[in-house]
Amino acid sequence: MLRPFQWWREGVIYQAYPRSLADSNGDGIGDLPGLTAHLDHLEWLGVDGLWLNPIMPSPNRDFGYDVSDYCDVHPELGTLADLERLVAEAGRRGIRVLLDLVPNHTSDRHPWFSDPARRDWYVWAEGRDGGPPNNWRSHFGGPAWSFDRKAGRWYLHQFLPEQPDLNWWSKGVRAEFDSILRFWFERGIAGFRIDTAALIVKDRELRDDPPADESDSWWTQRHGIRIVHSGNRPEVHDVLRRWRRICRRFEPERVLLGETFILDMEQLSRYFAPGELHLAFNFIFVHSPFDPAVLRGRVEASEEALPASGWPVWTASNHDLSRFPTRWCQGDERRIRLALVMLLTLRGTPVLYYGDELGMEDVAVAASRLRDRVGLREFGHSSRDPVRTPMPWRDAPGAGFTRAGVEPWLPIGDLSRNVESQRADPGSVLHLTRDLNALRRRLADLRRGAYATLPAPDGVWLFRRGRRTLVGLNFSEQPRPLGVAGQVLLSSHRSREGRRVGALEPLEGLVLEA
Ligand code: GLC
Ligand code: CA
Repeated sequence: MLRPFQWWREGVIYQAYPRSLADSNGDGIGDLPGLTAHLDHLEWLGVDGLWLNPIMPSPNRDFGYDVSDYCDVHPELGTLADLERLVAEAGRRGIRVLLDLVPNHTSDRHPWFSDPARRDWYVWAEGRDGGPPNNWRSHFGGPAWSFDRKAGRWYLHQFLPEQPDLNWWSKGVRAEFDSILRFWFERGIAGFRIDTAALIVKDRELRDDPPADESDSWWTQRHGIRIVHSGNRPEVHDVLRRWRRICRRFEPERVLLGETFILDMEQLSRYFAPGELHLAFNFIFVHSPFDPAVLRGRVEASEEALPASGWPVWTASNHDLSRFPTRWCQGDERRIRLALVMLLTLRGTPVLYYGDELGMEDVAVAASRLRDRVGLREFGHSSRDPVRTPMPWRDAPGAGFTRAGVEPWLPIGDLSRNVESQRADPGSVLHLTRDLNALRRRLADLRRGAYATLPAPDGVWLFRRGRRTLVGLNFSEQPRPLGVAGQVLLSSHRSREGRRVGALEPLEGLVLEA
């Protein structure tokens, strides 16, 4: 009954925003050779997979999420040969590389968009009463349609107008993406994170979405409508199954990790059906408050809803959201440590965002330095730039990210939390993250064991993993009894390790052998 090690179930995935890891050529932009030069850090940290945000050529209206060529590398980031070197060097360290695939839309500069022979590759429609064809809204705000004067028709864009949506009812689009998948899999890419995986297929008749009313909350509506026809269609599952079949033709099987922004657990669980996504992000958890009762409830709901074939993914930060050390912990290092113990001990695959291992926080970006057009044009204050700033490798000019004197593409934040100084300090957040990864590798219970909630006092979340591993998380500022006793294998309060304890210190997270 011993299942062979499946890296994407039992390992840890690290998300890198390639423009912000390391700049090898002094243009202020992180690149693939820079990342390759820092793979030792990831090996030392003990991660198994590396997901790169989009690296394909792009006019950068949405920094790579507007692709103009699906089978090449953006010159700012390097070349195909640089990517091959990265994949080989990562492989030598036991790390698999996942790329980001953006199938919902292309750049408006992609040659397909202006190719008359590929008209049906995009969603074109006649207007209604002098306005757009229906009431769909862009996820970045405003109508999801723009009028193209030359074509005399409207085209759909669920994001920026420079990101026209592809028409997934077109056979040509489906066949083209089959070859794109194969192109990268043949180059040793271990799989894809699928951008907006739940949105790609739209209602064929382009029916209006139901308008939201007072009964709707942030969880059930976007920009005043409920997503019923504009996304999360049943037909999306055909596409996912088609891709999974392609994954299976490669050895080892390639992996699909969906960006499934679905805030209803029952609906989300459908993406875990056999033969579909291997992994799917749980944004219900990500958007929870840092409250043990709420977080526990959402994990329990996931445990209940997932089919046997499903495997959860837990993440706390990414390139679109405020980083968890800021959003959940307000920079309080005790809470940051507690959150890391939680993230790395739940049943499922953890995805760490670069900098999480340091407790890196959001960086204030002055208005004159903002780069994210979504922030610039639509949201004003809610730019995503503060969570995409350069990795602080050391406390020196350029932060070890770029050469001293070079202006990085986004400002470098506070250097007090940096890799070099935390590596030298066994009590650091960085060492805690590394030790948690190592403990996962050592304990089959943490990698494979079932999850079970145990009774616990107020403010405490206590659960068992497998047969003999307990995880206790005290979210309160007071000591709390555990109701059980055991030997501490790892604690966010490092001096407690090795002891036998029956209680939690304030804001302590620990792993016990029962
Ligand atoms: C996803 C990405 C986000 C991007 C959007 C459009 O939500 O994570 O960064 O802007 O899709 O591609
Ligand atoms: Ca560079």
